[in-house]
Amino acid sequence: MRLAGVRRALGQGPRYTYKGNSLAPMNCLDSEIIVLIMHSFPRLTAAEAAAMITNGQTVGFSGFTPSGAPKAVPLALAARAMEDHAAGKEFQIGVLTGASTGPSLDGALAKADAIKFRTPYQTNPDLRDRINAGKTRYFDLHLSLMPQVTRYGFLGPVDVAVVEAADLTAGGGIVLTSGVGATPTFCNMAQRIIVELNRHHPPTLLGFHDIYEPADPPHRHEIPIYKPSDRIGTPIICVDPSKIVGVVETDLEDESRGFSDVSPLTERIGNNVAEFLASQLACGMIPRPFLPLQSGVGDMANSIMGALGRHPEIPQFEMYTEVLQDSVVSLLESERVRFASTCSLSLAPEAMKKVYDNLKFFRPRLVLRPQEISNSPEVVRRLGLISINTALEVDIFGNVNSTHVMGRKLMNGIGGSGDFTRNAYLSVFTCPSTAKGGKISTIVPLVSHVDHSEHSVGIIATEYGVADLRGKSPFERANEIIDKCAHPEYRDLLRSYMNIVEGAHTPHTLGAAFKMHEQFQRTGDMRGCSWTGPAEA
Ligand code: COA
Repeated sequence: MRLAGVRRALGQGPRYTYKGNSLAPMNCLDSEIIVLIMHSFPRLTAAEAAAMITNGQTVGFSGFTPSGAPKAVPLALAARAMEDHAAGKEFQIGVLTGASTGPSLDGALAKADAIKFRTPYQTNPDLRDRINAGKTRYFDLHLSLMPQVTRYGFLGPVDVAVVEAADLTAGGGIVLTSGVGATPTFCNMAQRIIVELNRHHPPTLLGFHDIYEPADPPHRHEIPIYKPSDRIGTPIICVDPSKIVGVVETDLEDESRGFSDVSPLTERIGNNVAEFLASQLACGMIPRPFLPLQSGVGDMANSIMGALGRHPEIPQFEMYTEVLQDSVVSLLESERVRFASTCSLSLAPEAMKKVYDNLKFFRPRLVLRPQEISNSPEVVRRLGLISINTALEVDIFGNVNSTHVMGRKLMNGIGGSGDFTRNAYLSVFTCPSTAKGGKISTIVPLVSHVDHSEHSVGIIATEYGVADLRGKSPFERANEIIDKCAHPEYRDLLRSYMNIVEGAHTPHTLGAAFKMHEQFQRTGDMRGCSWTGPAEA
């Protein structure tokens, strides 16, 4: 950002110019100036801030994954809840987030039994246990929808927003940190805002974010992003300064975890995906130079991105994604990735340090957007993304379960996988062919929960190969998935399922479709399943 432009913004002009676009309103100032004037907001301890939130209120928290999520105020809220509970008083809040958060937020609040309801995506083991025990009310949402349903009022009022900031202007300009999530909407909707000013993040993050909220129907226009690097919004969230009730100063690292080393299994899956995409490019099914990529979260996604980066026939590419993981930082450094648009930097501390130590290099190569934009179905379809996400299980006809173990235990949530899968140019799902040491086949006759239907899924990849489902009938898809992706130990069993009935468009047998799952529940191993009679004990 050009300082002169920002200084002008301080003066009388209603707007300033950033790379040719009309951007932030005049009350949003520059970090140099902020240091001089930010004393205008009351300083609070985390406990004082937590005391401003009352039982039953709904709180919107900043961030996306543990990146950008507040830490001190939620910990103080958890402590407060435990004190209140010990004194026989009720204390629970509704928790709205961008996506998953860290142990200081979801973990601490879950352990303190302080969550009245929670949406959307989560990954915390304590929270997951409470959800699966029926003790915490949870509902899952496509992440692109979270800001919109909040604005529409479908989740009730947002009483308080708790927002982690790298900097703050007297005029109510918030410079976010490593994750944007639904923060602009929470700030706009909340009656009161508490800012966690985290000195661990440099104020010079100013300019990395592109904050944009679409108008609501019937006044909505197109989101004018035509390539991943387009900027359409402001670098800061501008709020009415009178809503900011206090600032809690912290110096805390993001709670994103690192990744396991690439295993032979994830390497094989990554190589299969990279080889397949290279062959699609070579035969003209993917237009040159290449299409932007979205990649999911976790060890598998990290490993796939590494494989794509190494593949000699995959040219330099761009990313339009919701989470940026460690492997992509290296690919940006080596210029294998030209540009990355994301909602958060979900980086382990070492990778985050690389970015923060070299902001000058990364500034023209990265943009952080709200999830409503990073995951926008409209933009995903316009840009023609190649989406790569992970499945828990896949059925032989191409339906995918990403969220529920054995149909009933929530793992994490749908996250952004539906936003991307349904709208991508090419939707890829990956998973190992088996789980639990081979006792579970991830390829089954019928998924025990459907997140992505056969109509949205184009490609399945396991360590054994890649099934291309495009243009194939249910029979053909089943043969393709069994032959290319299923573990050899399960192939005959799955093939024999297709032969139970004749003369059906989709050869399901309702009494047998879940026999493999039943077998696992009874014996702890899907092997030995037979299609007739009860599952073997
Ligand atoms: N049945 C039962 N359990 C299964 C299973 C199956 N078919 N497949 C995997 N599992 C178990 C694994 O054994 C493992 O158990 P453990 O934790 O006890 O070891 C656990 O589920 C997680 O499996 P893993 O292979 O380590 O998963 P992952 O870290 O690669 O995550 C998802 C996979 C699907 C859970 C994760 O990608 C997710 O939450 N996806 C939905 C959100 C999303 O796709 N977002 C994308 C945009 S970022």
